[in-house]
Amino acid sequence: MTETRGKDPGEAGANGRRALDHKSVISAYRRYGRLYNLVFGRIFEPGRRRLLDAMDCQPGDRVLELGVGTGLSLPRYPEDVEITGIDLSPDMLEQAAEVVERNQLDNVQLIEMDAQELAFAEDSYDKVAVMYVASVVPDPRAMIREVRRVCRPGGDIFVLNHFASQGNRLLRRGENMLAPMSRALGFHPHFELDDFIEMAGLPVEDISPVNAFGYWTLLHLKNR
Ligand SMILES: C[S@@+](CC[C@H](N)C(=O)[O-])C[C@H]1O[C@@H](n2cnc3c(N)ncnc32)[C@H](O)[C@@H]1O
Repeated sequence: MTETRGKDPGEAGANGRRALDHKSVISAYRRYGRLYNLVFGRIFEPGRRRLLDAMDCQPGDRVLELGVGTGLSLPRYPEDVEITGIDLSPDMLEQAAEVVERNQLDNVQLIEMDAQELAFAEDSYDKVAVMYVASVVPDPRAMIREVRRVCRPGGDIFVLNHFASQGNRLLRRGENMLAPMSRALGFHPHFELDDFIEMAGLPVEDISPVNAFGYWTLLHLKNR
């Protein structure tokens, strides 16, 4: 079962642009639909595994997964860990709920919620996982601010994402060319790692290249 918390993500609110961005994220992931796992399941899987290994979950850990999507990572967590998965897209959550049911994951709670406006109290989680979401949310600065707030002091934050290519000029040019299509794609193809680290304002424990050609990055931050 999934719950809905926080403001209606489609609501216009004070910031009309943001409401529109929410809508474009929701409709992009509605379009991906059942194809999401087929296209991104396997390609992104090594990174998810690396993140879960790096998390080194301990019995009783409270884990928050932002943008849980279709729930591909959920069966990989140990049973004695409490997991909360949130996502903006009801379509993605529907698929995640099927994973929960199929695998009888009693330790997982799924909630429809905006990662930029979390309805959780401060210090609610020991570990936070953000897999392939940082370049999808309309306002990554607001997202990381919320992550810092709900993660306990000294807790661990893991961000898995594609950041703008540094060395390869051809790839960088391709990412720049795709940038105007962000809305249709449902993500920003051009996002600088240094900008993200600066907005997080947290000490970096580790940075590792992951997935095919090391094109994605696994970032481990400490919530200090
Ligand atoms: C590329 S998918 C990644 C899904 C999953 N983490 C995975 O590893 O496959 C990005 C997910 O982020 C979700 N998302 C985008 N903006 C969001 C927001 N503001 N709050 C919560 N989830 C959001 C999308 O709905 C989508 O499910």
